[in-house]
Amino acid sequence: MGRRCCWRRRGLVVASLGAAFLLLCTAPRALRLAFENRALGSLWLGGERKSPLQLLYDLDQNPPSLLAEVHRQRRDLLRRTCSRLTRRQHLLRPEDLRHVLVDDAHGLLYCYVPKVACTNWKRVLLALSGRAHGDPSAIPAHQVHAPGSLPSLADFSPAEINRRLRAYLAFLFVREPFERLASAYRNKFARPYSEAFQRRYGTRIVRRLRPGAHADALAHGHDVRFAEFLSYLLDPRTRRDEPFNEHWERAHALCHPCRLRYDVVGKFETLAEDAAFVLDLVGESKLSFPTPPRPKAAAVRDQAARLFQDISPFYQRRLFDLYKMDFLLFNYSAPSYLRLH
Ligand SMILES: *[C@@H]1O[C@H](CO)[C@@H](O)[C@H](O)[C@H]1NC(C)=O
Repeated sequence: MGRRCCWRRRGLVVASLGAAFLLLCTAPRALRLAFENRALGSLWLGGERKSPLQLLYDLDQNPPSLLAEVHRQRRDLLRRTCSRLTRRQHLLRPEDLRHVLVDDAHGLLYCYVPKVACTNWKRVLLALSGRAHGDPSAIPAHQVHAPGSLPSLADFSPAEINRRLRAYLAFLFVREPFERLASAYRNKFARPYSEAFQRRYGTRIVRRLRPGAHADALAHGHDVRFAEFLSYLLDPRTRRDEPFNEHWERAHALCHPCRLRYDVVGKFETLAEDAAFVLDLVGESKLSFPTPPRPKAAAVRDQAARLFQDISPFYQRRLFDLYKMDFLLFNYSAPSYLRLH
């Protein structure tokens, strides 16, 4: 097949995919659900069990539980903020959906955001799909993160993508953006066992942003300071060269919450309840979401505050602007330790 022909075909696929997504985003929800229920009635496990999406819909119809009401409000806020803040956007291509993982057996789409319990969600999805057995928390991390361990929406054809987007329960988990960023820094730069990240990104940061650096630092990138990491994020060259690494890329840029309909927005700050809410909808409330001991919320905030206290107000402001969409879309307020004015 000629090159031109190939390109034309690809153009068509992308255009029709985009059109379908646009349709999804704008169709009134009630109409969409009526359509989906009909489509699912005949298909869903022989009609014996309701799909997670139908269960969520039922919850919204009946006097909702407190938790269901919280989730409805989060969805509404996300939708309102999206329509307020987003202008015309580029069409989504299948590869933009790389972070959306698929569980066909349960009718689930999960968009993973690194540093927001994504390893544990992948463990749970592996257990749900029968690709791993036993207690999810016992599944080794290398198996969880092995490429292709879970199918991604990006691997399907546009028609198959749209079918799943219509019928499946889509969810993501988000976290206070600066606490996530602080966690990424600590995890990938400040700890001795993050050699791969230090060599790949640390050396680059030192070379670019530390005049007169020691040979040792240039070779290993092992001692990147938080201020240097932030300068790297704000340096226009960084995103011109390649997209941000997923550990510090903004959640909205990984999951496109204004283009795809998310049914549940879970939060790291209320991980256990929100995970249980999703697993209830899946009908797998027996499956326990791994809950390793975590530091208290106040301690986490103090840690982030300590990292940011040495950052100038000018950089704080610019960094806040960089992550602003995540703050607004997911209802996080600007941390009180920032000096934004
Ligand atoms: C947004 O956050 C505020 C403050 O934490 C809270 O009171 C409110 O209920 C939240 N709104 C939604 C829709 O989650």
